[in-house]
Amino acid sequence: MEVPSSAPDETWRDDPWLGVHAANPEFRHDPYPFLARLRSYAPVHETPDGVFRLTRYDDVIRMLKEVPSGVRRRDGTVWGSLPEITGGPGQFVLRLDPPDHTRIRKLMNQAFRPRAVERLRQRVRALVAELLDVVAERGEMDLIADLALPVPSTVICEMMGVPVADRVQFTRWTALATHLLAAAFLSAEQLEESIRAVQQLVAYFTELIAERRRRLGDDILSDLIRAEAEGDRLSEPELMAQSVGLLIAGFETTIGLIGNGMRAFVEHPEQWRLLRSRPDLVANAVEECLRFDGPIVVTMRVTREPTRFGDVVIPEDRPVMCFLAAANRDPEHFPDPDRFDITRPDIDHLAFGGGVHFCLGAHLARMEAQEAFAGMAARFTEIEPLCDEIVWGQSLFRVLGKYPVRLRQAV
Ligand code: HEM
Repeated sequence: MEVPSSAPDETWRDDPWLGVHAANPEFRHDPYPFLARLRSYAPVHETPDGVFRLTRYDDVIRMLKEVPSGVRRRDGTVWGSLPEITGGPGQFVLRLDPPDHTRIRKLMNQAFRPRAVERLRQRVRALVAELLDVVAERGEMDLIADLALPVPSTVICEMMGVPVADRVQFTRWTALATHLLAAAFLSAEQLEESIRAVQQLVAYFTELIAERRRRLGDDILSDLIRAEAEGDRLSEPELMAQSVGLLIAGFETTIGLIGNGMRAFVEHPEQWRLLRSRPDLVANAVEECLRFDGPIVVTMRVTREPTRFGDVVIPEDRPVMCFLAAANRDPEHFPDPDRFDITRPDIDHLAFGGGVHFCLGAHLARMEAQEAFAGMAARFTEIEPLCDEIVWGQSLFRVLGKYPVRLRQAV
């Protein structure tokens, strides 16, 4: 077996989790050596709590697209989640199986189609320009607070009809709420904090929905309220869960794409120079950023029948963790996978998952990141980090808390 040289020591062999665990701070900091080791040592791995973990590209894509699967177990529960909190993430579309999943996804699909998203491009370009005008004067910026956070959060608020001015209130709540997707790994204190965050989001939306019912508009929240008012298309708890869930999905992830992507450029200045000289590469660069260091490491499925992966048969009704971040660095699929290369051809990464739950916001996230990178590349010749230490944010996802840099402008 080939063990990556960056593997810290040999104690991992005695650890039934093989070092790949959300509570391991080294894993949080840099999951890729751990995932590479898991993929070569035990590519189909069963954890002490009976959950299987897949890390090879071919296995992950097969699990997502071909194997009969769902997201809920036969008894209706979602592995690792809590008993449902009304309006909490349990009833978000990502946590539902057909036919409920199909019905609700259809209701939200319209707003995220490529044509609808393209209509927002000019608005996003103007927003990026506005944000960069401010930082250009300073010659310094925090890539997270000054760009990666305000772009997606402003856009999702405008799309949903949520007042942008309220953003400061719910930014912390949405980050903390993401942890309920992996509630099984939380301490009692963290659990309480995350539940409180969801309750605050629910209280916020209860007021907003009541107000919007009186004055429906041309926004996603109004569309969902109309569907709920018709009776059989969306129940009230489902309306709440989609509202809270979309707000979280709409910006907790894209902060990570823009932030981790800009970090990759800062750490690979030759790729930044390349993007500046070849702006036509921006769409491919976004795909490489999603592959190289996407914001979501793992997504869950449950087997509907016994399924063989290599030498291992996963029994029926077992939770399966599909490690998107490991698939995206599988050397069998992506040559030289740890190299960040914005000219890489055919980047068929799995950062947005796959199958019926494939990310609804993929076009939107791509467009926002393209505009953010293009706007930065048009103005700044060099970007240098102002801090050696990497500071992670409060969310479960791979999202930086801050990333201060110095900027040198094109003359
Ligand atoms: C870079 C940004 C993003 C990434 C990496 C990302 C990633 C993902 C992933 C991995 C899934 C689960 C897919 C699966 O299990 O197969 C997902 C689902 C979802 N995402 Fe995203 N996402 C991003 C941005 C967004 C945005 C901007 C929105 C909406 C505004 C959004 C809305 C959703 C929704 C609604 C689902 C559930 C879809 C379903 O269950 O049918 N995402 N996303």
